[in-house]
Amino acid sequence: MTQRRSSTSGLAKATAFAPASVGNVAIGFDILGFSVDALGDRATVIRSDSPGVVISRATGVVSDIPREPEKNTAGRALMAMLEDLDPGFGIELHLDKGIPLGSGLGGSAASAVAAVVAANALLSEPLSKIELLKFAMQGEAVSSGSLHVDNIAPSLFGGLVLTVGIDQPRVKQVPVPAGIRAVLAHPHMFMSTRDARGILKGSVEMSDFVWQTANLAGFISGCYTDDLDMIRASFEDVVIQPQRQQLIPGFDSVRNAALAAGALGCSISGAGPTVFAWSLEAEAEAVRRDMLAQFVRAGIDADTWIVPIEPVGARVLPA
Ligand code: HSE
Repeated sequence: MTQRRSSTSGLAKATAFAPASVGNVAIGFDILGFSVDALGDRATVIRSDSPGVVISRATGVVSDIPREPEKNTAGRALMAMLEDLDPGFGIELHLDKGIPLGSGLGGSAASAVAAVVAANALLSEPLSKIELLKFAMQGEAVSSGSLHVDNIAPSLFGGLVLTVGIDQPRVKQVPVPAGIRAVLAHPHMFMSTRDARGILKGSVEMSDFVWQTANLAGFISGCYTDDLDMIRASFEDVVIQPQRQQLIPGFDSVRNAALAAGALGCSISGAGPTVFAWSLEAEAEAVRRDMLAQFVRAGIDADTWIVPIEPVGARVLPA
């Protein structure tokens, strides 16, 4: 147990916003992600004299989420926090979902992150974000069945985020070259992360391992050195995307259309079905339009966004 935090001077009530996120970013399966501030989840926490966590309300684009705290990503994250910190109070939680469930936009992670960031404001000695990460990870594991951080870390810290390690995670915010925009297309269908993970093979061909490793190294070095040619050349997932793309109607055409319109790369957002691309600002609208046209051609409507990738993560909102 972490040292007990006194409850005497924290807030009695707080609301936090946590952004959506794109996990994997093609080449960084389970370790790389970026935040998408255009949509997100809000959590309001109220200090309670009753121990434990009670989910009193769930509103927004998703309302049929589990109310039992141990089955809810935000509830489970708060339980982990209370068990570890023993602050001497319980928490009532109101969750307001802005991210569609099963969209591949990190909705479960954002709920968990928003909840722990809001609860942190109730503590008289708030924790650092890196300390909050492990509690949010416990919540994310409820929905996906595994401990991974590629949505949690960018939602919490903001921007393009690389995380190394699970037990003692190290987080690095990677710079994104100026002028890059993320284009997102969310087809109107549900994808279970658990199922999309379940279809993945347990082993990787040596040649694919080498290719993917080179691509991850090339992508990260391209980001640090503003080398758009390197980013474009390395923006290809040769391990996970080939196994999952058949789950998304029209994926090949959507990706080809994005690349033809000038995108630096295009792949599946997290476990899908959202598809994302990176492009320069000048091409972003054509990339968005052509990706949407291919989803519509495949018989499925989609919501689309063009967003900057900014290092602004979860935050407590003014009262
Ligand atoms: N890295 C995860 C996956 C993201 O692709 O399964 C979804 O939570």
